[in-house]
Amino acid sequence: MSLIKAAICGAGGGIGQPLSLLTAQNPHIGEVALFDVAPSVYGVAADLSHLDGTAVVNGYTKDNDGLKQALTGAKIVIIPAGVPRKPGMTRDDLFKINASICRDLATGIADYAPDAIIGVVSNPVNSTVPVFVETLKSKGVFDPKKVFGVTTLDIVRASKFVAEVVGKPNQAPQYKIPVVGGHSGKTIIPLISQSKPAVDIQGETLDKLINRIQFGGDEVVKAKDGAGSATLSMAYAGAKFLNAVLDAVYGGKPSVIQSYVYLPELQGGDSIKNEIGKELAYFSVSVQLGKQGIEKVLPLGQLNDYEKRLLQDALPELDQSIVKGVGFGKSQL
Ligand code: NAD
Ligand code: LMR
Repeated sequence: MSLIKAAICGAGGGIGQPLSLLTAQNPHIGEVALFDVAPSVYGVAADLSHLDGTAVVNGYTKDNDGLKQALTGAKIVIIPAGVPRKPGMTRDDLFKINASICRDLATGIADYAPDAIIGVVSNPVNSTVPVFVETLKSKGVFDPKKVFGVTTLDIVRASKFVAEVVGKPNQAPQYKIPVVGGHSGKTIIPLISQSKPAVDIQGETLDKLINRIQFGGDEVVKAKDGAGSATLSMAYAGAKFLNAVLDAVYGGKPSVIQSYVYLPELQGGDSIKNEIGKELAYFSVSVQLGKQGIEKVLPLGQLNDYEKRLLQDALPELDQSIVKGVGFGKSQL
């Protein structure tokens, strides 16, 4: 098996450090390039370079063409760069700073790793993914099969919280619940009716469960009390995402995940428009992964009336966030 290079942008941060640790343990990885604007990334890289795994680990900052060095040859780039929330903030409040960071990193990827798979973690994901897509399009290197908004943490939370509600807190890995829409509050749409195995959760218990999945991020922001947002659970989710993608692309193990993607140019993407009743270019959907990245978008499936209401409640905010990200991306051309 030939080993590939991964790059983590924002590798010195709260997510970046544990995500780099987990990435270095992926069996497909031969090199992990840790990029961050903060020089402490050299220490993180030195630390991880002592692991006795297959991966070589190197750290880079902006000095000495660091972004170019980090990205050149990378086949997958994960981006947890940017500022996190503090109590009282929405993810959208991060847009002003993080949109520029994403634009700059997307430009770097277009220049130095144009065929890389990209996983965008930086918030607000509902807008930063459009910033990435517009920047890559303007550079002529956009491939819709390779750009993912990482919403895996919502799926991780759904499994865990459902397991707790049904009184089986140790059996979270067994519960697979699709979560679609976007990655922010009401735009997060858990499809509990499609849980495998099936669960019977209704009434106030269902309302509370949905609210907890939608606002799980706030729970962590509040508990951290000014020291940031979810980092370790996000790194865990980010590694799940990376493992699934690399297994499909390099390991011959296709699978289905949910991710926030650009629909118009993906096989099956058009049909989502009819299912949601509105033309949104971006939506978190189930995608079939294969050798090229996203092979096709799968239908949302049967929603019950409760889920149809969640969907309708999600659309205005999601639409606004997309317009904002696309507008920013286009204004930079
Ligand atoms: P953090 O502040 O701990 O780390 C961010 C890192 O990014 C820092 O080390 C910083 O130096 C670096 N950075 C800033 N600008 C950069 C640039 N231009 N290039 C490279 N690195 C740069 O923050 P964190 O807790 O790791 O969160 C990072 C982002 O991830 C936030 O926007 C947060 O909201 C988001 N997040 C997303 C999810 C999700 O589910 N998608 C979950 C949790 C957090
Ligand atoms: C999360 O869902 O935990 C992240 O998006 C971080 C946040 O700001 O809540």
